[in-house]
Amino acid sequence: MDGSPVAVMIYFQGVSKSFGRHRVLDELDLHIERGKITFIIGKSGEGKSVTIKHIMGLLKPDKGRIIVDGSDIAEFSRDEARSYRRHFGMLFQHAALFDSMTVLDNILFPLREHTMMSTKDMLVRADEVMEQTGVRQLRGQFPGELSTGEKKRVGLARALVAKPSVLLYDEPTTGMDPLISEMIDQLIVEVSQKETGITSIVISHDLKAAMATSDQIVFLYKGKAALSGPPDDFRQSQDPVIRQFFAGKVEGPMEFL
Ligand SMILES: Nc1ncnc2c1ncn2[C@@H]1O[C@H](COP(=O)(O)OP(=O)(O)O)[C@@H](O)[C@H]1O
Ligand SMILES: [Mg+2]
Repeated sequence: MDGSPVAVMIYFQGVSKSFGRHRVLDELDLHIERGKITFIIGKSGEGKSVTIKHIMGLLKPDKGRIIVDGSDIAEFSRDEARSYRRHFGMLFQHAALFDSMTVLDNILFPLREHTMMSTKDMLVRADEVMEQTGVRQLRGQFPGELSTGEKKRVGLARALVAKPSVLLYDEPTTGMDPLISEMIDQLIVEVSQKETGITSIVISHDLKAAMATSDQIVFLYKGKAALSGPPDDFRQSQDPVIRQFFAGKVEGPMEFL
């Protein structure tokens, strides 16, 4: 998944997914560009996490195809699927650190689990990502001793340590205070700039953050991409649903549950 010159990395072609009678994705088409920051936005329950799970191969479409670097990921063998997933780093909404491990051990965990690196090389790499995310001084502490923002940084260091090609952030700022949210948005940009070639996908319902941070935005609405393109396309869009989302208004064509 590295180094391919093709700009588009991930394609959804007519992807549908239902749970029981509830159709979450409805012939969804989208594309995600390599090396860029793409925000997938939409209100709660609109299928953002379901979309990410499809990208990672954790859910399979009922219909349609997901093409990554030219391959239909539904056709992967078990081994191919396993190695495919290793290309992803994931930062969850709650950093999901292991409470009984120090910061350093949390960050080393993916390397110990999935690589044959020497301890020395692991420590060098851990040091790099701790430097990058500004958590080096926390290395000996336990998650319980950290602030919310610090936990996020450590979670990001752990997501980065195995050099993923794609970094997925699922609602990284939801429930965070504005200062921490801004810090996380800045980190997303910094990481994207420093880890050359890394593709960042951020799930969010924060349109403002998307406008400030992304190269491309995919707006999910009723199982489809109602609009996708650079922030300027959103600024200029006259689509009433997008205008309503922008204005944060309850009244309008879009129903808030
Ligand atoms: N494994 C599942 N089984 C049944 N329903 C699911 C499952 N995963 C998601 N859903 C439903 O799909 C819809 C979209 O979920 P999700 O992608 O998590 O929304 P969000 O956009 O908030 O991330 C929700 O109605 C949710 O209840
Ligand atoms: Mg979600």
